[in-house]
Amino acid sequence: DDGGPQPEKHCGHGRGGMGEEVTRKEDKRFITGRGNYVDDIKKPGMLHCEIVRSPHAHARIEDIDGSRAMALDGVVAVLTADDLLEHDLATMPTLMDDTQDVLVNDKVKFQSQEVAAVIAEDRYTAKDAAEKVEVEYDVLEPVVDAEEALEDDAPLIRDELDDQEDNHIFDWETGDKEATQEVFDEAAVTVEEQMEYQRLHPAPIETCGAVADWDPGKDKMTVHMTSQAPHAHRTLFSQVSGIPEHKVRIVSPDVGGGFGNKVPIYPGYVVAAAASYVLEQPVKWIEERSENIQTTGFARDYDMTGEIAATEDGVIQGVKVDVLANHGAYNAAAQPSKFPAGFFNIFTGSYDVDAAYGSLTGAFTNTAPGGVAYRCSFRVTEAVYLIERMVKVLADELDVDPAEIRRRNFIPSDAFPYESATGWNYDSGDYEKALDKALEMADYEHYREEQQRRIAEDADKLIGIGISSFTEVVGAGPGKQCDIAGIEMFDSADLRVNPTGNAVLRIGVQTQGQGHETTFAQIVAEELGMDVDDITVEHGDTDTEPYGLGTYGSRSTPVAGAAAAVAARKVRDKAKSIAANELEAAEEDIEWDRESGEFHVAGAPDRSITITEIAAGAYMNSPGNEEPGLEAVNYYDPPEMTYPFGSYIVVVEVDRETGEVDFEKFVAVDDCGNRINPMIIEGQIHGGLAQGIGTAMLEHVTYDDNGNVTGGDFMNYLLPTANEIPNFETGHTVTPSPHHPIGAKGVGESPTVGSPPAIVNAVVDAMSHAGTSHVEMPMTPDTVWEELDEVGLSI
Ligand code: CDP
Repeated sequence: DDGGPQPEKHCGHGRGGMGEEVTRKEDKRFITGRGNYVDDIKKPGMLHCEIVRSPHAHARIEDIDGSRAMALDGVVAVLTADDLLEHDLATMPTLMDDTQDVLVNDKVKFQSQEVAAVIAEDRYTAKDAAEKVEVEYDVLEPVVDAEEALEDDAPLIRDELDDQEDNHIFDWETGDKEATQEVFDEAAVTVEEQMEYQRLHPAPIETCGAVADWDPGKDKMTVHMTSQAPHAHRTLFSQVSGIPEHKVRIVSPDVGGGFGNKVPIYPGYVVAAAASYVLEQPVKWIEERSENIQTTGFARDYDMTGEIAATEDGVIQGVKVDVLANHGAYNAAAQPSKFPAGFFNIFTGSYDVDAAYGSLTGAFTNTAPGGVAYRCSFRVTEAVYLIERMVKVLADELDVDPAEIRRRNFIPSDAFPYESATGWNYDSGDYEKALDKALEMADYEHYREEQQRRIAEDADKLIGIGISSFTEVVGAGPGKQCDIAGIEMFDSADLRVNPTGNAVLRIGVQTQGQGHETTFAQIVAEELGMDVDDITVEHGDTDTEPYGLGTYGSRSTPVAGAAAAVAARKVRDKAKSIAANELEAAEEDIEWDRESGEFHVAGAPDRSITITEIAAGAYMNSPGNEEPGLEAVNYYDPPEMTYPFGSYIVVVEVDRETGEVDFEKFVAVDDCGNRINPMIIEGQIHGGLAQGIGTAMLEHVTYDDNGNVTGGDFMNYLLPTANEIPNFETGHTVTPSPHHPIGAKGVGESPTVGSPPAIVNAVVDAMSHAGTSHVEMPMTPDTVWEELDEVGLSI
């Protein structure tokens, strides 16, 4: 049995198995304009929904008058919370056990919150009518800053909650406080730095939307929606609406990027479904860009203080962190329910640390709710940023090279499986190997010399070199540890081989552009000796796919990828018995040869049979001891998460006159265990690095003191374009996961998680000789120039 982890193999058998650069099956339809997104869906009699939103961040609603809107030709209904109350749909549960208004019943809690909805025959009429809905507000004082929200005299945001006397949501802690304090008390060196991980928005190119279609003939609700987790959404829809789950169908068609933004359920989906139910016609709701940024799940917004205790040689002994988390107006983070701070407690990173302690306070503010896993595994991004920044702070304090200080502290490659000070069980890693490779690719020594030369010459442009040697934690479950609204986080695959030898693989995860239709077919091709073109992958329709928890937190490969491999191996086991029947041999004499993809009789390789021939046998000549057919299902509950890692090295040139930062070199070495499709991995890395650059240099959802979102559209929330993106040099090492059936770890998020600290470390590094210890993101030219000026480097 070769069921254990496989070494990386580029089978080269040409069937498109593991390690082959198979071109993306899905691209044919995308590049020929045949994608099918929610807004492409048109149904006979379909109505359009437009949401009326509050201009105020904190205000009581005195009155809503929809009569002028109703008077417009083509307007079918104006809905308010009162209408939804009749159907018990005025509020909905968040994924963190809070209750959010679908349409505001009493008090607006953030700008652009949903106040009313207009349903009309076309979108233009709906939009015009929404502007005619008259809402009378009693405006209240807002608070948008988490620290101010926790002050005694701050306005109380959640006054509808019986036990809520202030804006405090929860306190959370991890690690051993006393042991960590002892380490700090006795340490030769301690360093401390405060840093903000600013509020970001995942900003998928496709905004959120839904087409809800209540069929009174079948008593069935079908909702096409932008969903990263269709099955979990079906269960929640059923629980909230009271429609039995087998009468709810969620279809997530092509999705134009999710990045965590399409994990929560938003009021628009519920309003569209409620309107379709009441009006008995299909109803479409599609967000505009500014609605998406201003109201749907944001990411990060952590104000963090990190401390390291170390020896004089820079050996890290203890890590302490303290965080103030701005959760917005509701606790609506999207993460496993037992993890109020997501996976932030992996903050000891790639380093072997004796003692660690972390504390975090969550606060309500008059800002949009969120805290979603924006291309990351539930707050691991903030943790990685903190530790990778702190290691640089320590290196500067001790005047030790940042590469060298990492080497002194890495968890050694022979220490895996490794249990961290905060209780994570790392599966495998070889951090030094990845760093060495990155240093070599980056020509590190050369740039260190160039840096010194520029300082010595008092040059106008300084060189900075930043390193990040991050570890990620991806692939939630295990189900007992991780659940979403009580549902354990397993995933699934259902593989059916047809009589003519091709197959359909249905999976519980839902792609949003990652190429699952290709890579999941490759897993089956590898495990069954089939050609990748003979396998179709289906996902996103709850009526046909097996139950799954969805795609986020890079969990597809670690969990559903494992399910696909196990399902294929179940089929392979059955195929052996059919092969024995066809070859007139004993089943125990049948061997499977991975290279040829054929089954043959032991000792007689010429007596062989392919999976295509076996498929025919399964339906046309089934052996008496087996059921006919050739299919298998697997629900996979991972024994552990997987821990991909990497080393990124960024070289920047900082202009002392303008504060502008140019990327000179950008090296990314990733290790995601065994690689299914190197080309797709490279694409994932490129995309994630671009998002990391956006994070470090450009993006920030900002608010003014009145609660107005001042960074809520693409004029003010700046995404990186091709102009800002340098040439990336990518490399890899391969350290298989010992517990994953194909030895693979996730990869999609590593670059977004790992790159921001490398970029900030580089900019800090350009100025650290003058005393700079930190620069806040986004590092716009004015921010950088102010720091240059502060430390006397500006010209
Ligand atoms: O959950 P999500 O698909 O976003 O993330 P992932 O599991 O990291 O996978 C992203 C893409 O990279 C998928 O198409 C994977 O199949 C592919 N991948 C790969 O080819 N080899 C790996 N070891 C990991 C992911």
